Amino acid sequence: MDIFRTKTVDEIKNDVDDDSGPGSLRKQLRLRDLVGFGFGVGIVIGTGIFTLTGVQAKENAGPAVVLSFAIAGVVSLLAALCYAELASAVPTAGSAYTYAYATLGELFAWIIGWDLVLEFALGAAVVARSWSGYLADLFGLPPSLFTEEAPVNVGAVLIVVALGVVAAVGVKESARVTNTLVVIKVAISVFIVVAGFFFISKSNLVPFVPKSAPAEAGGSTLDQPLMQAVAGIAPAAFGVAGVVTAAAVVFFAYTGFEAVANLSEESKHPSRDLPRALIGTLVACTVLYMLVAFVVTGMVQYTDLDDSAPIAKAFDAVGASWAGSLVSIAAVAGLTSVILVELVTISRIGFAMGRDGLLPKSVAKVSPRFGTPTRLTAGVVVAVALLAALVPLKELAEMVSIGALFAFLLVSLAVPILRRTKPDLKRPFRVPFSPLVPILSGLACVYLMLNLVVETWIRFLVWLALGLVIYFAYGRRHARLAATMATDKS
Ligand code: ALA
Repeated sequence: MDIFRTKTVDEIKNDVDDDSGPGSLRKQLRLRDLVGFGFGVGIVIGTGIFTLTGVQAKENAGPAVVLSFAIAGVVSLLAALCYAELASAVPTAGSAYTYAYATLGELFAWIIGWDLVLEFALGAAVVARSWSGYLADLFGLPPSLFTEEAPVNVGAVLIVVALGVVAAVGVKESARVTNTLVVIKVAISVFIVVAGFFFISKSNLVPFVPKSAPAEAGGSTLDQPLMQAVAGIAPAAFGVAGVVTAAAVVFFAYTGFEAVANLSEESKHPSRDLPRALIGTLVACTVLYMLVAFVVTGMVQYTDLDDSAPIAKAFDAVGASWAGSLVSIAAVAGLTSVILVELVTISRIGFAMGRDGLLPKSVAKVSPRFGTPTRLTAGVVVAVALLAALVPLKELAEMVSIGALFAFLLVSLAVPILRRTKPDLKRPFRVPFSPLVPILSGLACVYLMLNLVVETWIRFLVWLALGLVIYFAYGRRHARLAATMATDKS
């Protein structure tokens, strides 16, 4: 059963220690950089809050989208606790992928790595498309080249290529660029809340949870949440079910926080700083998202919210278009940092998979000059640019949510398994009430996944199937563990 072979935690640590020469990732990040990367900041605050808030309030939840953000935030927080335990015990560039290698076995590790590539590549493509749209809005650029109407989204391609170069040049530079952009983003998000409060009209917040109603245009089974389709319920929106459906979609807004864990190999004090960075990121984002959602649905009746730039348009609607322009500037800056960190993260995961032999070594090779896997980054940039050029934002976004939820599910399972198989491992951070909290976390992820539409499930399963073909055709035979085991036997 070699597909279930596991890497020991010592092997993982040795890999990290051995990699201290010119071919390794450089250890140069401190808490400030990690917080920059994670806390909303780098990767988390983005398209989710700047666009999905309005869309989901309008289509599924009404003002109760505030509760959807709370539900998605709690699920992310539970998963973050599990991430924090694993990241502090096993600091490595592969994050969830490597934790799975140590606990659930090689096949699961490959699946999770493959799944994370999907999450981050499509995430970068989604955000690049919305960046392009906001840029067009700000400067009056032609919609045929920059918005969802464009047959080839040129703006999205340009930003992906430009940030791909920054990512390849080095993580230190990336952290610096990110931190600057983050300050602008957080400042303006706080501004939205403070300025928006003055324009809230109580009548817009009533009814807070609009009554359940049939989905628009009847809705086909493919467009229906899997849970509704399986239960044979007619497609519906709003009501309590609508709030949960919106939670599964706005979950996108929290995806990416786990990128902090991917950087643990480059962190100076991973055991102390990682749990703080992960949990701090999530708590801050949940509070900020709920406040922004409350303010925006309080400013404009949910039925009148705009689909593409809801927050900027809400300020326009109350006669404060100067504030709307500020929001658009923040969106462009904020989305830039999200794309950058997503690109850096895919290279980190690919680096870890290459080191283990599941991907060809030549692909994951670290450039001695820049200290980053430049070839891999170049390949990723080409793929992301193609997706961003051609595939609609909406179709990509739900795929990111399902990919992230699946990864969180496996991470949640890994915590109690590792506690059994490696009880003596030093865990600077421990999930409280294990196994209860990890189990709750896993169940919550499954529940949100079931609230995503059937079409998303089909696409996700196709992606996983493709991954399995690659594993059995290449990774299984070329894995470094395969060679170690053969040597042990002889
Ligand atoms: N969480 C990130 C966003 O909302 C991906 O844009």
